Amino acid sequence: MDILAIESSCDETAAAVVRDGREIRSNIISSQIEIHRLYGGVVPEIASRKHIEVINQIIDEALSQAGTTLRDIDAICVTYGPGLVGALLVGVGAAKALAYAADKPLVGVHHIEGHISANYLVYPELEPPFLSLVASGGHSHLVIVRDYGEYEVIGRTRDDAAGEAFDKVARAIDLGYPGGPKIDKLAAEGDPHAIEFPRAVIDEAPYDFSFSGLKSAVLNFLNGCRMKGEEINRADVAASFQEAVVDVLTDHTMAAAAQYGIDKVAIAGGVACNSGLRERMKEKCEAEGHEFFLPPPILCTDNAAMIGAAGYYEYKKGVRHGLELNAVPALPL
Ligand code: KG4
Ligand code: ZN
Repeated sequence: MDILAIESSCDETAAAVVRDGREIRSNIISSQIEIHRLYGGVVPEIASRKHIEVINQIIDEALSQAGTTLRDIDAICVTYGPGLVGALLVGVGAAKALAYAADKPLVGVHHIEGHISANYLVYPELEPPFLSLVASGGHSHLVIVRDYGEYEVIGRTRDDAAGEAFDKVARAIDLGYPGGPKIDKLAAEGDPHAIEFPRAVIDEAPYDFSFSGLKSAVLNFLNGCRMKGEEINRADVAASFQEAVVDVLTDHTMAAAAQYGIDKVAIAGGVACNSGLRERMKEKCEAEGHEFFLPPPILCTDNAAMIGAAGYYEYKKGVRHGLELNAVPALPL
């Protein structure tokens, strides 16, 4: 079964053709990063306009690279939330128009469900149940995947998402947007133990995350240095900040795997590109005897192939949406 999948929840316009939820036949991504970089972050109105400009081309390219046509597609899947409402509406509108015109079933997909499902595209043997850490620009979740499309969220962020913290700290040390990849690169040159930044633990909710205290600690450290006229070693700041985030994400995930008795652990979302996190999770999973699953970076950041994977299992469960499908910016998992 071939699915045409569309994703436009933030600043990537993406379309893909995915076979049976597991095989990528094409995966086209048009990133708007260069435009938003000028403003230091994603400007929602610009994101929507850029999606409109390129979405038809991206869909055509996904179909032609897969060697197929709309006529041979079995269903159309699209991200309908969470995300920026104007951005989501472009993908949802395109998907509805195609589904109507070609008389194909339409399935709306949850963006986070997409991130989690990226691992299905890489590991044919991966089946639920498993534990997934989802860390992106908008979300930090610890999720038990009980079955296909069946999720138990056991931890979430109380304030900033992990990727958001990376982006804000990067801005504070003048690295520009998006900050995650830049901090990752600079951290390799710094000492991760140079500065002891805080690791937040929430007593009554041990799997929840909080990164705003860490972000403030970095900003206070930088202000302190500036006031004392001390030179700032940006590589040490990047490495020490990254170390704190990696510690928290990894510790929470490993503690949850132990408490819930789950021996398959996956990571997903843009922050799963982080080399420190990938390495540490691999080490810890090996030490604890857990099987570890991680997508290649291109499937960690936003893409439509992951939406095709998630959408396939939704379709198989009988989920169908009508033309009343709307964008839901705060769609819960
Ligand atoms: O999943 P994603 O593409 O979009 C959302 O759904 O939010 O994630 C984007 C986030 C950004 O905050 C970006 O800075 C972060 O992922 N990111 C990274 C790395 N690559 C991307 N964070 C840390 N290290 C990286 N190498
Ligand atoms: Zn995402």
